[in-house]
Amino acid sequence: MIQPVTISTQNGIAAVTIDNPPVNALSQAVRQGLADAVQRTEADADVRAVVLLCAGRTFIAGADVREFGQTPREPHLPDVIDMIEGATKPWIAALHGTALGGGLEVALGCRFRLADPSARLGLPEVNLGLIPGAGGTVRLPRLVGVPAALEMIAGGKMVSVDKALEMGLVDRIVDGDLTQAALEFAKSAALETPVEPLMARDVAQSDSDKWEAQKAAIAKRARGQNSPLAAITALENALAMPADQALAKERELFFQLKDDPQSLALRHIFFAERSAGKMPRLKGVKPRPFDEIGVIGGGTMGAGIVAACLLAGLRVVMLERDDESLSAGQERVQNTLAQSHKRGLIDADTLTRMQGNFSGATDYAALGNADLVIEAVFEDMAVKRDVFTRLDAATKPDAVLATNTSYLDIAEIAEAVADPSRVSGLHFFSPAYIMKLLEIVHPPKVADDVLATGFALAKRLGKIAVPAGVCDGFIGNRIMSAYRRECDYMLEDGALPQDVDAAMRDFGFAMGIFAMQDMAGLDIAWAMRKRQAATRPADMRYVDIPDQLCELGRFGRKTGAGWYDYSSDPKGAPDPLVEGIITKASADKGITRVPLSADEIMGRIIGVMQSEGRKILDEGIAQSPEAIDVVMVNGYGFPRWRGGPMFMAGDA
Ligand code: COA
Repeated sequence: MIQPVTISTQNGIAAVTIDNPPVNALSQAVRQGLADAVQRTEADADVRAVVLLCAGRTFIAGADVREFGQTPREPHLPDVIDMIEGATKPWIAALHGTALGGGLEVALGCRFRLADPSARLGLPEVNLGLIPGAGGTVRLPRLVGVPAALEMIAGGKMVSVDKALEMGLVDRIVDGDLTQAALEFAKSAALETPVEPLMARDVAQSDSDKWEAQKAAIAKRARGQNSPLAAITALENALAMPADQALAKERELFFQLKDDPQSLALRHIFFAERSAGKMPRLKGVKPRPFDEIGVIGGGTMGAGIVAACLLAGLRVVMLERDDESLSAGQERVQNTLAQSHKRGLIDADTLTRMQGNFSGATDYAALGNADLVIEAVFEDMAVKRDVFTRLDAATKPDAVLATNTSYLDIAEIAEAVADPSRVSGLHFFSPAYIMKLLEIVHPPKVADDVLATGFALAKRLGKIAVPAGVCDGFIGNRIMSAYRRECDYMLEDGALPQDVDAAMRDFGFAMGIFAMQDMAGLDIAWAMRKRQAATRPADMRYVDIPDQLCELGRFGRKTGAGWYDYSSDPKGAPDPLVEGIITKASADKGITRVPLSADEIMGRIIGVMQSEGRKILDEGIAQSPEAIDVVMVNGYGFPRWRGGPMFMAGDA
């Protein structure tokens, strides 16, 4: 077996290097290698200090999640970190890439932490339904204070190296060669003054009002997820108990959480997100290069796609039909970029560079250099085909063309182009610069390298890509249409919109389906229902309550009323008028209304998601049950910690 941890000693400094691709996860072999390295360097009289380095793209990215299902094997990580911290020769961690979870805990066991400017640090265990289990909740507050530690542990977000320096989490940012700098540091005077190990330090008590407010905010954000609450408990322990006791409690909590169904669900989604985007037919297929992107349409979706591409460093040409629409679209993009700058996500130079990468046009000739063009115009077949006919004439013959349609037949759109093999679907979710999901729709004639380009774009934009076949609504919207229909049935059967929405929120959705429709606007679905009216099977149950709302001009928030009334309450209040329409609809069909419990409501919603999901699988629209879960979690607010409908069904 290849030894993943090696030591080389020069001039009294031992360099311990972990090389365990792809992300230097702390497998049993790595833990053993580190334990051996402590013993060997302690025993070697020539060694004065130890530098811990990682080969490849990143520092240790955490425990090996694949080992979580197995019986833990020695040496356990807390013991290894204890050995590092207790060593008489100081250990210096040299961080690059991502120092995450157990990786950051190893670094906290070291006396010093140096990092290169691109490094990011975090304790993301909460995202897997866990808390740090190797001292993170005990050592981190001793280094950065309790509030900052709780934020990192319960929030699970990474911090930049600048932030880490400001917090005191790293001692120094190193420009240039990190290994060289760490070796120099190990020889420097910095090591002459003894530094206390974190376990030996006290925790600074924090302001009790602020502490209570912080805990309450985190509990609220958790929306039914257990691990953020466990993070609070662990930090309360760190405040109240001696370090070794808090450490033992942390381990107990960690093991409880590891067997919690929420953690199993979150681990399922973690791996599902990484497998869902792999299409066997694209193995070894090279994407076409892309640098300049064209986006047709400057509405909310088009402008969002432009912003997503600019934020990823791409050059973008936005095309609109006239000057007025173009300047409105450009303004939307500029506002998004300005917001990103205001929120500290991009600095002033980057903002200027991104603005320089952005141009607008009203003439298709401006797309002559585009490598990839994404169409995001009005959802109408004739309009879209017209756009693609023009694109066919204006673009390079090998430019990749994509439509952002949510429902229309992409194969039919592709026929507007002489070479339909260059057309695929890229279904973004709004706002496109925030939402992580991208459905990559593959019409029958699409070329493999065109499809591969879609996946490469998703990666560049930091999105989770899921392939989907052509059908009405692809994966996500098709499932959503099915369960929205079921929710309409429930209205006729005895529920009110607020009952359904409350049940969904209690289940863990951020928002219920009716509140969501009010936000998105009821008119688009209404137009679609009118289009589908002629082909709808006569024996299919049809609920006309939403049509009645639209006929009254109640299109949702934008008109001040929809399923809810927004005239006096910006969050929306139940409206007696809507209740009247609903109860009359039941009466007109001779349905005796029977109130539905939250469990019954959720049982029906999840049941429909699962049965529609199985149909989608049978038809080959989705590649795997995992793909469906990834779509529902990342595009439709399905609570991540429940793993997705197919996981709940035991299918994934
Ligand atoms: N244990 C086991 N495998 C892991 C892993 C871990 N902690 N972290 C990542 N991997 C695997 C992924 O499954 C993927 O495998 P695959 O290529 O077979 O699909 C591979 O490493 C690369 O990961 P990926 O996420 O695709 O790469 P990336 O460069 O986009 O992101 C990370 C890298 C480290 C930021 C990201 O993988 C991550 O956040 N990992 C989890 C970290 C974590 O939660 N650690 C705490 C564990 S308790």
